[in-house]
Amino acid sequence: MSMAGAPQAGRAPAGGAPAGGPGPAGAPPGGPGVRVRPLVPADWPAVAAIYGAGIATGEATFDAAVPSWETWDAGHLARPRLVAADDAGKGVVGWAALSPVSDRCAYAGVAEVSIYVDPAAAGRGVGSALLARLVAAAEEAGLWTLQAGVFPENAASLTLHRRHGFRVVGTRERLGQLAGKWRDVVLLERRSAVVGR
Ligand SMILES: CC(C)(COP(=O)(O)OP(=O)(O)OC[C@H]1O[C@@H](n2cnc3c(N)ncnc32)[C@H](O)[C@@H]1OP(=O)(O)O)[C@@H](O)C(=O)NCCC(=O)NCCS
Repeated sequence: MSMAGAPQAGRAPAGGAPAGGPGPAGAPPGGPGVRVRPLVPADWPAVAAIYGAGIATGEATFDAAVPSWETWDAGHLARPRLVAADDAGKGVVGWAALSPVSDRCAYAGVAEVSIYVDPAAAGRGVGSALLARLVAAAEEAGLWTLQAGVFPENAASLTLHRRHGFRVVGTRERLGQLAGKWRDVVLLERRSAVVGR
């Protein structure tokens, strides 16, 4: 999740995010017919709809509503931003992006993951393909730590992040309120072994 109210530095690390390519262990990227490519502004309606579906689960984020493109754009790093596109005609079925955690220079290589998959496409490797590409592209962009804040009830997200090298740092208790209820958040992080050694 990306915490509402986090610093919105909007900086863009150097480097790019190559699209496509194999998933982890050579698996197809998100299953047959799905490819990962850079997110472009024209993807926003689909990205917003998928974000809205995630918000509606009540288990994905403290955010209560989908922001405008301008707000979302300002709050996320310019690169990498990725979508998974279904070549079978369903269009965008998932997206992943990063937001800065601080504007202090010591944290310039630290960013927080947002990842959302269309519920109709969940459970078939789309999230895994996106996160694999996001991690690789983040390292190419010079980021050394990715973090994720996940509600303890969100088993799919916890499994997904751990599968891609994130470790549980700990559980932040009653960190914020969602719909009037205090929620714990599991903090996970993935420290690169190749960037910032
Ligand atoms: C979390 C989310 C991105 C996962 O995407 P996905 O495409 O469904 O996940 P994948 O099919 O790639 O599965 C990734 C791993 O999670 C596991 N998984 C998937 N759904 C699961 C579930 N409901 N419970 C437990 N594990 C689950 C898979 O088995 C797989 O693990 P494996 O590689 O060890 O087999 C997706 O469920 C989603 O968008 N949820 C709503 C938004 C959200 O919660 N975003 C994260 C905010 S922190």
